[in-house]
This record gives sequence, structure tokens and C-alpha cells, in this order.
Amino acid sequence: MDHFSLVDGALHCEGVPLAAIAEAVGTPVYVYSTATFERHARVFREGLAPAGDVHLAYAIKANPNLAVLRVLAREGYGADVVSGGELARALAAGIPAKDVVFSGVGKTVGELSTALDVGLGQFNLELEEEGVVLAGLAAARGMRADATLRVNPDVDAGTHAKISTGKRENKFGVPIDQAPAIFARLAGLPGLALRGVAIHIGSQLSELAPLEAAYARIGALVAELRAAGHPIERVDLGGGLGVPYRAGEVFPSPAEYGAMVARVTKGWGVRLMFEPGRVIAGNAGVLLTKVIWVKPGAINPYVIVDAAMNDLARPAMYDAWHDFEAVSPSGARMTANIAGPVCESGDTFAMARDIDTVKSGDLAIFRTAGAYGATMASTYNSRALVPEVLVDGDRFAVVADRILPETILAAERIPDWLKA
Ligand code: LLP
Repeated sequence: MDHFSLVDGALHCEGVPLAAIAEAVGTPVYVYSTATFERHARVFREGLAPAGDVHLAYAIKANPNLAVLRVLAREGYGADVVSGGELARALAAGIPAKDVVFSGVGKTVGELSTALDVGLGQFNLELEEEGVVLAGLAAARGMRADATLRVNPDVDAGTHAKISTGKRENKFGVPIDQAPAIFARLAGLPGLALRGVAIHIGSQLSELAPLEAAYARIGALVAELRAAGHPIERVDLGGGLGVPYRAGEVFPSPAEYGAMVARVTKGWGVRLMFEPGRVIAGNAGVLLTKVIWVKPGAINPYVIVDAAMNDLARPAMYDAWHDFEAVSPSGARMTANIAGPVCESGDTFAMARDIDTVKSGDLAIFRTAGAYGATMASTYNSRALVPEVLVDGDRFAVVADRILPETILAAERIPDWLKA
């Protein structure tokens, strides 16, 4: 459920007409709903109630906007970060360092050091050498770093290949058959408090079965590690729960997910941790755009909108579907292609799609753009960096400015030798 709906024939976000945001801020612009973020945060937490006292770390990469993080911090969420930049955002939003988990296959020595210095809650180690280096950095500070070992369970998540992370050929985690030996070596290091294991098998999962299979493997590993004398206190089960992108699609609910988790992890005797991203943010945002032209095509017309692949990369990167709707639909329908102004055929959001009839100058939205939308934007084709707006009831605020091409140009230099 989200809070983007028609009121008197015009799409609103909560109490604000999207047309009013377009008027004030211009287009393209991402629009987020506070109430939807709050609702998703609560539904996910309630879904996991059967699993006991869990730790929830919102995966910042899905939507790292500072105001969004603030909303989720208010909901009691910690954070899963994958870079020094994301760590800085979590702290700036008021998320306590002890509630932050640091994932990622390429944490630098500088990032590990900074995280230690701010009192990070947990490092999810991706390889043995990282653990050895972290232990050394911590020991030099007279500390022990809290950590888990990320394991690759070799399970096919059944999602798009580019967002699948838990197969043995993927770059993430240590192979599950090597995990006991690596765990034993790292557990012996004085600078490390190795408290458990972590997994994350992929994103936009449409079924619970692959998650269940991965969790079962982790359960067996936990038993094996315990038998070897390691006290296992925490298991981080990652993120990955998918969301519907097309009207009518049905996905496992947080309640169904929570029931499965409680069943599979029964008797583990650990604190479970989660890193949800998309399920919290996906349907909490839309990309608001304006139709520039409706260009007759050889087969279907092209609706050329002012948003492009640099603003919303998912269709070009993963052939992803985002529902398209007119802000003031007339009721008439048309079959059209939808594309942006960027000079690549890949800058196409949809082909031969049945959509609300639109004409030049009309406003429209791409739905389910709250996760992996603005954060993946670029300035390709020297376009502006897309702004973000947060709605709360009947008020709204620009929570990320439109960064203009002039500003980006001003950060570039012509070296002396090219000046004359
Ligand atoms: N934890 C780790 C270690 C992750 O790598 C990810 C996502 C998450 C948690 C959150 O997963 P979620 O709950 O959002 O599925 N750009 C792609 C998605 C990339 C996901 C990367 N890792 C997309 O637009 O579909």
C-alpha cells in the first residue's frame, strides 16, 4: 500500500497534488511519501515479530536521502552501509553508530579505520584478509571489532543476474564449505569479536523458497560452528524481499516472510538481523516527469518525457518495469513507447505499453521509484542531477536540490597547458 492516489481526478502524494510539486520544483523530480515509508517500516517490523527481538538495519543504498534516513531513524531503524559515504549519511541522520552494519566486498583500510573510530556496531567481513586487517586496526586502538563472517550459501535467488549475490561464482562472501576454517582462524585474533555469520543472496526476490534454502544452510553452519566451540550470538539474514512493480503482481508479504523466518530459525538461539532496502523504500517514491513530445513512430508513437535513463537507470540496466500513469488521466488509453531525451536507444522506459493517453506538456509518473532511483542517477548527456521532494501530509519540502549542469561544469578545469 502507498499514498499516491487520485483525488478529484488528479494524482496526489498524501495531501499534496503532484501538479503543485511540478509547478514549484519543476520536472523531473522524485517525490517521496513519509506516510508510506513509515507504514512499510512498521509492517516489516510487525511481520518479523514472530522471530523475536530482531535488529533492523535499513539498507541505505536503496534510498540514501538524508530526510528519508531521518524518517527511518525515527522508526527505530539502524542502517546497513556499504561505503564511508553511506556511513557518514547514517550518522548525519542521527542513526547511532552502534546500530550500523558495514557490508561490502571492498571496504578500504581508510573506511575500516573510520568505522572503528566512530564506534560502528558490526562489520560483515567478506574475506579472511579483511578480517585480519580489521583485527590489526582494532588491536592498535586497544579495541575489539564486532564482526560477522559473510557466507556465500550457493543458492540461486531466482532474480535478475545483475542483482543476484548468493551463487558461488558471485563476488560476495566466503564459500560456505570454507567458512568453518576461516571462522576458526579469524575467531582467534585478539582484535576481533566474531559474533556470528551473515548472508544476503540477492534483491527483488519474488519467492521465499530461495531465502528459506539459504537460511537452512546457514542454520546448519551455525550448528557446526557451535559444535566447534564458537559462541554464535548473531545471524544477519540480509535483505532482498521483492516488491510488486506492476499493478496486480503479488509478492510474499513481510508477514509471510516473518513466519518463514521464525519457522526456519527456531531454536537457533541468536539475535537475528535484517537489511531490508527495497521493501521499505520501493513504493514510497515516484518519479514525476513531463511529456515533452508525443512523436509519431513507425509502429507506435513515442512519448518523449523529460526524465531519462540518467534519472531512473533501472529499465536500461535491468529491463525493469515501472508503471506509468498520467497525473490527470482523462480515461482514454493509448499504446505507446515511452522514452527519455538521452541519445541512446537504451533510454527507453517501455515499448508498446497500454498507458493513459498523454500529450505534450502533460505530467506523468513512474511508480515504485523510491528504491534504487535517485541514488543511481547520473548527469549523463550533461543533464542536471535530479532533485528529490519529501511529502508529509499536506506539506512538502525539497530534500535534495537539482544540481545544474553549470554547477558540474564549474567543478571541471582546463589545465594550463591547454589554455593558450
Ligand atoms: N544487504 C546487502 C548486503 C545488499 O547488497 C543489499 C542490496 C541489501 C541488503 C538490500 O537489498 P534489498 O532489500 O533492497 O533487496 N540496483 C538494483 C538493486 C541492487 C541491490 C544491491 N544490494 C536494482 O535497482 O534493482
